[in-house]
Amino acid sequence: MPGVHKKIVVLPGDGIGPEVTSAATQVLQDCAEAFGHRFELLSHAFGGVAIDTFGTPLPKETLAACRAADATLLGAVGGPKWEVLPLEQRPEAGLLGIRRGLGLFINLRPLRLRESLRRISPLHLERIAHCDFEIVRELAGDIYFGRHETTVENGVEVARDEAVYSVPEVERVAKYAFERAVARRGHLTSVDKHNILATSVLWRKTVVAMAPQYPTVTLDHQYVDNASMQLVLRPEQFDVILTSNMFGDILSDEAAALAGSIGLIPSMSMGNTTKGALYEPIHGSAPALTGKDAANPLGTIFSVCMMLRESFGLRTEADWIERGVDRVLDRGLRTADIADDPKQIVPSSVFLEQLRKELSENLRPTEQHGWGV
Ligand code: IPM
Ligand code: MG
Repeated sequence: MPGVHKKIVVLPGDGIGPEVTSAATQVLQDCAEAFGHRFELLSHAFGGVAIDTFGTPLPKETLAACRAADATLLGAVGGPKWEVLPLEQRPEAGLLGIRRGLGLFINLRPLRLRESLRRISPLHLERIAHCDFEIVRELAGDIYFGRHETTVENGVEVARDEAVYSVPEVERVAKYAFERAVARRGHLTSVDKHNILATSVLWRKTVVAMAPQYPTVTLDHQYVDNASMQLVLRPEQFDVILTSNMFGDILSDEAAALAGSIGLIPSMSMGNTTKGALYEPIHGSAPALTGKDAANPLGTIFSVCMMLRESFGLRTEADWIERGVDRVLDRGLRTADIADDPKQIVPSSVFLEQLRKELSENLRPTEQHGWGV
């Protein structure tokens, strides 16, 4: 493929965000050099750091830059410093604002336990026969975006959070999940709380009505409490999980532990197309790790791989990075969160340096290994 030119907005954010995005963009630039692409990186203020400088977690210029970009790479936002602010002024409100502002309603989170990391899964090795599935989380509705209200009623403080879904909101994310299932192993599990919630009754009815359009997909349904148990009992039963915003948030952290560490899991958020999609690791800003050269950069590096594949169609390039990562892991180098022996632990900077070295030694992957397109 001839070289491409892409504009990528980088939002380092707070805590370990700047560390992990710096690592991932270095790998991205190595990729540009190796394959003759041009990735123009434009850094913008977002999250707590934007509150400190501009008085808002999502400055207008930042949102406008993301809208004009081919893709956005986000680190993490939040931290104790801003937890005293009212909900709507916190860094997390910026995250919801950018999801809404960019029209992102699909959140894809791939969960795969890599061969070299099997020993660190919290499940018995014999139980974790196969852990390779995706969560498609709805990202623009539900209790996240309903009214949040705290009042005093009869002298008692009362809080309310409203959960809302419409049929078209369920349809657009379900369509994507069905399509992912068609492209994978043909199994879709829709997760809801159909025995209690009106939004879940609407959710299930909508998904069921769409199923005939996808005859090659086996659709089943699980209640969210059961799904959280099934994830640890038999993760191999899952191929694509489709779920609402709140349930997807919770289940994806649980699933991340199965796949080794939350520090490893990337995500893509998109609207109608992958143009302008947003990529971010699913972990938070990890204040306890900040500035210690200890954060795992792989969630963000894998997010860059997703960007290359999903937004730019650069599969060979993404494979090149992932294989480099696997070779470094095979050599036994680990950040603390993915080490099963303390002797394996190296600082993040050393991990990154070794990865870049590994990549630079395999500069022309198609010629040397024949695994190009
Ligand atoms: C995530 C995060 C966010 C969410 C927070 C930081 C608002 O937990 O992306 O999973 O709940 O969506
Ligand atoms: Mg979360």
